[in-house]
Order: sequence, then structure tokens, then C-alpha cells
Amino acid sequence: MIEVKNISFSYNSKEVLKDISFTLSKEFLAIMGPNGSGKTTLIKLIMGFLKPLKGSIRIFGKTPEESREFIGYMPQREAIARHFPIRVKDIVLMGIKKRFYTKDDIEMAKKALEEVDMLDFWDNKFNALSQGQQQRVLFARALVKNPKLIILDEPFNAVDLPSREKMIEVLKEKRQKGKEIIVVVHNVNPILHEIDKVLLLNKIKIAFGKPKEVLNQENLRRTYGIDVQIIICEEGYCHPLVGDTHA
Ligand SMILES: Nc1ncnc2c1ncn2[C@@H]1O[C@H](COP(=O)(O)OP(=O)(O)OP(=O)(O)O)[C@@H](O)[C@H]1O
Ligand SMILES: [Mg+2]
Repeated sequence: MIEVKNISFSYNSKEVLKDISFTLSKEFLAIMGPNGSGKTTLIKLIMGFLKPLKGSIRIFGKTPEESREFIGYMPQREAIARHFPIRVKDIVLMGIKKRFYTKDDIEMAKKALEEVDMLDFWDNKFNALSQGQQQRVLFARALVKNPKLIILDEPFNAVDLPSREKMIEVLKEKRQKGKEIIVVVHNVNPILHEIDKVLLLNKIKIAFGKPKEVLNQENLRRTYGIDVQIIICEEGYCHPLVGDTHA
């Protein structure tokens, strides 16, 4: 159970989030909004990396700092130092956060890499991988501890279609096992049928609710400031044509 209540946040005097509230209960949430709308900031508040100016966040009844061990986190691409000479296995093991790793830890790391088809790269240098391969390794790191809450900030950027499908398949399984999942995406369509809720964000909460209720022309216009083309497909689902904006 995740409870975000009346959160506001400013960098110096620049307000980036204003009065954000929502609740999740064993659900899969997609956060959408234009560049600079505060998505990553909201994630960092939930992780406890930033402190809200106003409001409160509870994760399984605890503060973000207290809950960090239950959270698997994949930061947005830009936030990761990719030139540091570190191996794939060490990246994944970082998700376990221990000084010394046991045989079981190694097994868990291998299993997580296997889940994203990257086990062959166990001993490879992380910075010598392609962007999409790096994304998959970081996804494995977020999953390695079998976290109760999985938070992914633009996980599918630069990831090719088969790998993306694989990642979505893994998320579906986690969702079925009752995990909470929060994913920031520009293009919601690949996960539209998997998510329970959508949060449309642009400094304020534009809308929060089931994708069928939230993803309409009016809400998308208020979020992105332009008319967003929508394709209406099966079972009344609206597919907004908002593409990926990052490399
Ligand atoms: N460390 C910081 N110091 C000052 N301002 C910041 C900082 N980080 C982000 N901002 C500003 O806060 C606003 C929200 O940024 P944030 O990274 O949360 O947006 P975002 O929705 O994740 O955007 P994107 O889609 O580009 O990832 C932006 O205007 C950004 O310039
Ligand atoms: Mg961001």
C-alpha cells in the first residue's frame, strides 16, 4: 500500500510539484507527463532521496527511508554514470546492498539477469554494452531482491521490442504476485493492458485513475498542452500517440 498525500516540492524557489495525492494497493501504476513535469522528482520523493516541502508519503505504513529495503529502483538513464569501469554482475549485486555476497546472493543475481536474457554478459564490462542491454541489466538490478515495490523511471528507453516485451512479461508476473509497480513512461501503449492506474502529471495531478477513465482527449490536452492524437482500439481502450522523447 502506497499513500502519497498532498505532496508539494520546490527546487530552491522553483515549485515543481503541487499538492499531489494518490493511493495504490497492490497495483501497477504508470506515470505520464511531458519533460520537466516532475515525474522523476515524484519518484525521488517516494524513494526518500528528496524530502517533500509539504505532505507525507507512506509505503506499507512506513516512511520512504524505512521502506527502502523493500523497493527495487531503476533510475532514469541520464542519472547513471555509465563510464565507470564496472562489470555487469557487480551492477546487479549492487541491488542487494551488502558488503559481502553469499552464494545465494550470486544465484539471485544470476536469476535476475536470466529473466532479462542477459546472463551471458555476467562478466562483461557494463559500459561496453549497448544502451538497451544496459537498461536490461539495470532492470535486473531493480528486481534482484524480489522487492515488494518496483519503481522504474523510463525503463523502456532504447530497449528493442523483444527485450521490452520480455521486461513487460516479467512485470506482469510481479503484478500477479501482488507487487506494487510504478513505472514512468512516455509511451503508455505497450503496457496499457497491464496497468491498473495512470497518473497524468504536469506539476499538478491532472488525473489519476483507471486507464479507460483517465486517457481521454481533454485530460491529455491538459497534460501536454497540445491535442494528442488518440486511436481507440478494442474494448474501449484509448491509445494516445505520445512517443518516446529520450534516446
Ligand atoms: N536537481 C535539480 N535542481 C534544480 N531543478 C531541478 C533539479 N532536478 C530537476 N529540476 C527541475 O524540476 C523540474 C522537474 O524535473 P523532473 O526531472 O522531475 O521532470 P521529468 O518529468 O522527470 O522530466 P523528463 O521527462 O525530462 O525526465 C524541471 O523543470 C527540472 O528542470
Ligand atoms: Mg524524468
